[in-house]
Order: sequence, then structure tokens, then C-alpha cells
Amino acid sequence: MASLSLVNVCKTFKNGQIAVKNFNLDIRDQEFLILVGPSGCGKSTTLRMIAGLEEISSGELWIDGELMNLTVPQKRDLSMVFQSYALYPHLTVYENMAFSLRVRNVGKTEIDQRVRKAADVLCISHLLDRKPHALSGGQKQRVAIGSAIVREPKAYLMDEPLSNLDAKLRTQMRVELSKIHKELGATMIYVTHDQVEAMTLGTRIVVMNSGVILQAAEPKVLYTNPINKFVAGFIGSPSMNFIPVWVERREERICVEFSKNRLFVNEECAKRLIEGDYLGRRVYLGIRPEDLHETGTKDQELKLHVEIKEVLGSEILLHGKIGRSPVCARLKPDFPSEGGREVSIFADMSRILLFDMETEENILYR
Ligand SMILES: Nc1ncnc2c1ncn2[C@@H]1O[C@H](COP(=O)(O)OP(=O)(O)O)[C@@H](O)[C@H]1O
Ligand SMILES: [Mg+2]
Repeated sequence: MASLSLVNVCKTFKNGQIAVKNFNLDIRDQEFLILVGPSGCGKSTTLRMIAGLEEISSGELWIDGELMNLTVPQKRDLSMVFQSYALYPHLTVYENMAFSLRVRNVGKTEIDQRVRKAADVLCISHLLDRKPHALSGGQKQRVAIGSAIVREPKAYLMDEPLSNLDAKLRTQMRVELSKIHKELGATMIYVTHDQVEAMTLGTRIVVMNSGVILQAAEPKVLYTNPINKFVAGFIGSPSMNFIPVWVERREERICVEFSKNRLFVNEECAKRLIEGDYLGRRVYLGIRPEDLHETGTKDQELKLHVEIKEVLGSEILLHGKIGRSPVCARLKPDFPSEGGREVSIFADMSRILLFDMETEENILYR
């Protein structure tokens, strides 16, 4: 397997479109690295430059210590899996998976071993004699992944490989991919715009926007310590709530206030706010739906005007407004609440985040 290194990689297309700017990243051997971000942020372009399908405008790509900028795709020893799985319709599953090995003149016995092993890993051994038209969407995608696996490349590059599948299959395949990653000990670089896929699959996540890396970190770190409001809002579902608040000093303590609500912040938070000269200024309060609770003290209390209650079974999502800000709270199903009512909910003040109004940077970033 392989480690990769991208140094100041940039891509400007012929029409002047800048797709990737100063991309710097070291990808360790056996990492499951996720590139995530909104549509058009440069994920596919980055992956295609690694694969050699797109020329690197400037910067360096290193694979296992070798400069690869000018190496043709076939010599990079990487396997790519795309969103639309291109299977040969007239070939069986077995022949589809064997195809890339045949053209490389790999011996028959070796081909057979590799195909059967990959089929086993992917649980498609019983489908080897079928043609693609007799497969479901999920099965076809497994075959496409199988074709990548048999090549035993240095690393796998995957561009939204699950986005054509329905929700249930996607969940299944997500689990499968995690297993495959463990079983093969493979280096994977995986592009998605789906933050749930990113959180569940990645050993590390790179969040991109407008062609640049905003933050690269382990899923848990991204979730609890996002670098700015964009990352905080992109990761997590339902999204983090953002409420514009005033920072004030009351009763010798620091609090954030907005439309008759007052939350007292903890010491660490107060220290950062004072150091950053935020007293008397406005900031965004960031709080995740699951960090709003049914009970608490006056210091944490918020008045939520409930608009809609979504019952999910094990929990409810209350959507409504606090002041003029839309807010969602994830609460226990027995919490008494109906649309049109005002209820008290309580913020876990150890979990709140605060963002600068102008720069949108996380004031509490560690
Ligand atoms: N061949 C191309 N020529 C010009 N612009 C392109 C080309 N391919 C992609 N782009 C532009 O580059 C940006 C990044 O695209 P892409 O990497 O496909 O984004 P993502 O995969 O994150 O959705 C977009 O603005 C897109 O329109
Ligand atoms: Mg893309």
C-alpha cells in the first residue's frame, strides 16, 4: 500500500476556472481519507489529479516518495471507482472483474485467485456467472469495487461511489466499505458530499470549500472542534443551530443575550470572550440539536416557540424559533410539546461554540 503527499497543488482550467488552490496534505499508509464539501468545491478535480486524469497546474504529487506529476495514470498503480459504475454489459461478473488483469497479462491461475478472493470479500461469489443486466444497483456497484480490488493497487480512489444507490443500500455498502478497508489494509481516498458517509467511513476528513482545505481532522475532532462556522454547519445532521447573540457582563459574570434569553457561559468561554475583546459585541452562538435538553437551570434556559414536532421513534426533533432564530432541538419522545406552544429547553453550556460575526472563525477553537 501507499502514502501520498500533495504539496501546494493547484488546478486552473483552460477557461480560467480555479478549481483547487494550494492543496497541502499528507495521506498516510492505510488511511481512509475523506474529501467532503459542497458540490463544485474541487473534490473530484483533486481526486482526478491524483489519478492522473487531470493535469496538475502547479505543485507536486508524491506517491511513496516518488514525484508523480508527469506519470501516466496506468503507471501510478491506483484504482479508481466512480459514481456511475462502468461494467461491460456483454461480460459476466467474473469476466468484468478479471478484465483489467487480462489486459495486464496476469496469469490465469493468479486471475482466478484474485477474482474469487475479491468476490468473497464483497459477498458476490454467487453472482460470478451473471451478466450485469441481471444485477441490482448495489450488486453492480460491488462488482465495480471488485474490479478495483483485484488489481491490488497502491491506493483506491473513489468518487461518490454510493450516490446512485437508494438510502438503505447506501447504509449497507457503507458498512461493507469499512470492512473492506480493514480487511485489505488499503489506503483509500474517498470523495463524497454526504457528511454522514464522511463521519462514518473516514479515519480522517478533509473539509473543502471553494477549492481550499478548511480543516483536516479526525471525525470526532471536526465535530467537537470545528475551525469555523462553515465546518460546524456542514458536519452533523440536523445541522448546528446558529443564533446571533450579544456578549454582555451581568452580575459579575459573562453571558450571551438575545430576545429575552440569557445564557451564562462557563469560565473558559468567558476568558476567551474577554481576551478576544468581544464584550458588548455580537457573535454567533452555535449549539447542536442534541446539546439542548429537557431540564436544566435558569442559567441555561431558552424559550423555544415550537412550530413543528417530528417524531422519530426513539427521539423527537422540535423545530421552532428562539426570538427570530430558527432552532432545532433533539429531545426525548415523552417531552411535552406541541406546535404553537412555547417550551423551556436548556443548553449544555459546556458544548456551545461561539463564532466571530465577520470572520466566522470559532472563538473557542483549540
Ligand atoms: N473540465 C473543466 N473545465 C472547467 N471547469 C471545470 C472543469 N471540471 C470542473 N470544473 C469546475 O471546477 C470546480 C470544481 O469542480 P469539481 O472538482 O468537479 O467539484 P466537486 O467534485 O467538488 O463537485 C467547479 O467550479 C467546476 O465547475
Ligand atoms: Mg465531484
